[in-house]
Order: sequence, then structure tokens, then C-alpha cells
Amino acid sequence: MWRNTQAGYGLAAQVLHWLIALLFACQLALGYLTQASADDPALQFRLYQWHKSLGFLILALALLRLGWWAIGIRPAPAGHMGRLERLAAYAAHSLLLGLTIVVPLAGWAVVSASPLAIPSYAFDLVVIPNLPLAASDAAEAFWSRVHALLAYGTGLLALGHALAALHHHFLRRDDTLRRMVRPFRKHAGWK
Ligand code: HEM
Ligand code: HEM
Repeated sequence: MWRNTQAGYGLAAQVLHWLIALLFACQLALGYLTQASADDPALQFRLYQWHKSLGFLILALALLRLGWWAIGIRPAPAGHMGRLERLAAYAAHSLLLGLTIVVPLAGWAVVSASPLAIPSYAFDLVVIPNLPLAASDAAEAFWSRVHALLAYGTGLLALGHALAALHHHFLRRDDTLRRMVRPFRKHAGWK
């Protein structure tokens, strides 16, 4: 039930997938809003604290998922897929998996390289120490560009990935999307 099999994703992979996908989408919007709220410093500060907290949560969940992925079985494709298509799907999934770790790390580098040295409070509960990076305006600007580029790039890749899933569901009519939402379908009483 929890683990993947050759035929499909287990409950753990499905719950982690949808939780991280949802948090990632919220986090993109929140990141954008931190930049759009520059004329209201109090609001901007609060948005930053939420953005950092959610970012650390995504990092923890993505590391957990990487561990689960490494020790588990990778299900065979649900529908018929050529060699190149399998390779593209594998590359896209591996990239998405890696980027959900690298993007928050780059965000963590932004705050660590900032000369302002503002501490990161995760959900107002724990202080997360900065990474051991040299702080300067130039280093902060560098990591800020890297973080933004990777975050929006991952958003685009995830969009392509979601469109591919819809293509499988509506045009090819195979089981690709259905087997990724199995627990929710069961809960709703669908077959
Ligand atoms: C998956 C997780 C994350 C995503 C998707 C994400 C996404 C974004 C986006 C879209 C922006 C706006 C970029 C722009 O328009 O210039 C942003 C800005 C920022 N993020 Fe993140 N972020 C994540 C995690 C983190 C984490 C963990 C931290 C810090 C601990 C962080 C710190 C920041 C900071 C400081 C900025 C402002 C950069 C600047 O001043 O230019 N982010 N983020
Ligand atoms: C509405 C949006 C999304 C849809 C419809 C969707 C759909 C799917 C489906 C159907 C699979 C299984 C593919 C297969 O059987 O070969 C899958 C796997 C995967 N998806 Fe998504 N996805 C979405 C968003 C995202 C996002 C935002 C991310 C990451 C940022 C992501 C990362 C992954 C990864 C890494 C896998 C590989 C399996 C795993 O380890 O969980 N997906 N997705």
C-alpha cells in the first residue's frame, strides 16, 4: 500500500507528489509577491517569513522523497511508450525531483549571503542557521538571480510535465494520471 510496485505508485509517493506540487505552486506565487510588495515593508517582511518557512518545508519533504525514491521501485510506464519517450519522462522526473531540492537551497543561499543577516524563523518555531557563505551585496545579487531563474524554470518544466500528464489522460486515454490519484479516487468512491 505504502510502497511503489512495478504496476504503480504507492501511497507515500502519491501523497508526497501532490503535497510538494501544491506547496511548490503556492511558493512560486509567494516568491513573486515578495517582490511585488516592495512598497509595503511590513507586509513584505511577513511574506518573506512565510516564503522562507514554506521553502524549508518543501526542502525537507523533497529530501524525504529523494530517499524514498532511491530505495523504492520505479513503476513501469502505464501506457505504451517508445524508448525516447521513456527517457524524456525519466529525465523530466529526475530533474523535477532534483530541482525541488536545489531551488530552496539557492533561496537559503540568498539569505545566507545577504549582508543584512536577517535570521530565518521556520513557522516562528525554530531558527534556521545560515549556510557558511561569504556575505556581500554582489554574492546576494548572484544567488538571488540564480534562485529566481531556477524557480521560474522549474515552474515552466512542471507546467510541461502537467500538460504531458493531461495528454496521457485525455488523448491517449491510458492510466498514467489515474494511478497517480488512486487514493483520492478511492476516497471519492470512483473505480
Ligand atoms: C521550492 C522552494 C522555493 C521556490 C519555488 C521559491 C521561489 C521564489 C520566487 C519565484 C521568487 C521571486 C523571484 C523574483 O521574481 O525575482 C523568490 C524570491 C526569494 N526567495 Fe524563494 N523560493 C523557494 C524557497 C526559498 C527558500 C527556502 C528561501 C530562504 C530560506 C527563499 C528565499 C527567497 C528570497 C530571499 C527571495 C528574494 C530574492 C531577492 O531579493 O531578489 N526561497 N523565491
Ligand atoms: C497539476 C500538476 C501536476 C500533474 C497533473 C502531475 C502529474 C504526474 C503524474 C501523472 C505522474 C506519474 C507519471 C508516470 O507514471 O510516469 C507524475 C510524476 C512525477 N511528478 Fe508530477 N504532476 C504535477 C505537478 C508536479 C510538480 C509541480 C512537480 C515538481 C515540482 C512534479 C514532480 C513529479 C515527479 C518528480 C514525478 C516522478 C514520480 C515521483 O517521484 O513522485 N509534478 N506527475
